[in-house]
Amino acid sequence: MDLKKANEFLSVNDNGHLTFEELDTVELAKKYGTPLYLMSENSIKSNIKNYLDAIEESFGKRGHVAYACKAFCCKEMARLADNQGLWLDVVSSGELYTALSADFPAERIIFHGNNKSNDELKLAVDNSVGRIVVDNEYELERLINIAETTGKVQKIQIRLKPGVDPDTHQYVRTGGINSKFGISLSDGTIDRIVRTANQCKAVKLVGIHCHIGSQILDYSVYFDAVDVMVKIISDINQNHNLSLEELNLGGGLGIYYKNDETPNIRDFVNDIHSSLVKSEQKYGIKIPAIYFEPGRSIVGNAGITLYKVGAIKKEEGLTSYLSVDGGMADNPRYALYKSKYSIILANKADKTEMEKFTVAGKCCESGDLLQEDVLIADAVPGDILAVLSTGAYNYSMSSNYNRIPRPPVVMINKDTSRIIVKRESLEDIIRNDI
Ligand SMILES: Cc1ncc(COP(=O)(O)O)c(C=O)c1O
Repeated sequence: MDLKKANEFLSVNDNGHLTFEELDTVELAKKYGTPLYLMSENSIKSNIKNYLDAIEESFGKRGHVAYACKAFCCKEMARLADNQGLWLDVVSSGELYTALSADFPAERIIFHGNNKSNDELKLAVDNSVGRIVVDNEYELERLINIAETTGKVQKIQIRLKPGVDPDTHQYVRTGGINSKFGISLSDGTIDRIVRTANQCKAVKLVGIHCHIGSQILDYSVYFDAVDVMVKIISDINQNHNLSLEELNLGGGLGIYYKNDETPNIRDFVNDIHSSLVKSEQKYGIKIPAIYFEPGRSIVGNAGITLYKVGAIKKEEGLTSYLSVDGGMADNPRYALYKSKYSIILANKADKTEMEKFTVAGKCCESGDLLQEDVLIADAVPGDILAVLSTGAYNYSMSSNYNRIPRPPVVMINKDTSRIIVKRESLEDIIRNDI
């Protein structure tokens, strides 16, 4: 397995153990227990730097990066995003509250969601978040009422469906006209929304937004979305005499899981810039501010998950199951999307002789698998199994199914490690029970 493709800080030491940054993962499993989420701080910082450098290089001051914290959200991650100068995309009162609790500056928060509640809108307006991305007319009406009562002017972007479908799993395609997110361009809703927002002093329409999907490996599909969005800004300019200042292109760039040809962040940003400039020239406008909202490509390859191997079942002519002490409760992505992962035994990372296993979790659910028919070194109970590229949409999508406590998240940096999210206890499991 080419570990470096998953993460440049993964390696194998003289004991044949998998190392992450400068730490032996087998020792980390001993120290913190399993299952265990590990996040590499230097991987996250390196991904952020790649975005910021590329944005600076091509977009200059008009480029902004908002970290989409649905990919991995906790207070420490919000602090890290803040320290690196990013904006933050949040999509619920829980994510917003996390960010505010970590003292993330509200003016750099972008609040998303296709069905925000009044309480969520009020929390956002009361805290003066930088932008609310309005998903539909019903939301705009309620937002105006809420903003009017506070006497504030809330800046908004409108989420649109550019009618572009990337080649990715259907559950993470969001830019097509049939998506549940945003407003389609076909029935005049956009004009009504612009008119309503324009006539109202409590909101200021500053831009439009699209997010076409996630885990996108062939990013040429963005060029179509960019062209559609620039045309809309030009149309709004002509039809409503309103020059929008912001275009938000969402996130979605794919990462390496297993055998993927992974695009490079720098090329992605530079190529989007070239396509934007072309469209701007075509429609005769220049948009003052461009936003990107990457989630997965900031944290996805920065995380791995460690499990302890338990029961192993090898029966003639049947699937060989290797069970671990976690599963769909800490990583539902295989059950949801049949997502591919690279898997390796952390304490036998130098072994080359392999057997075919299906890696099963411990939940009471046949679909609770982490991967089917993968090659793993000869495993015995007690071995430590590592699943790579679990930094995005694993901890953030985890659940307490079967009342299993969530694993802790440990941030590693060179030869140091620290808990940034504690392991849940059995007491946590019954905390809200009456
Ligand atoms: C509005 C919006 N922005 C950004 C993202 C982040 O996407 P990704 O993690 O694929 O970069 C998402 C993901 O669902 C999203 O819905």
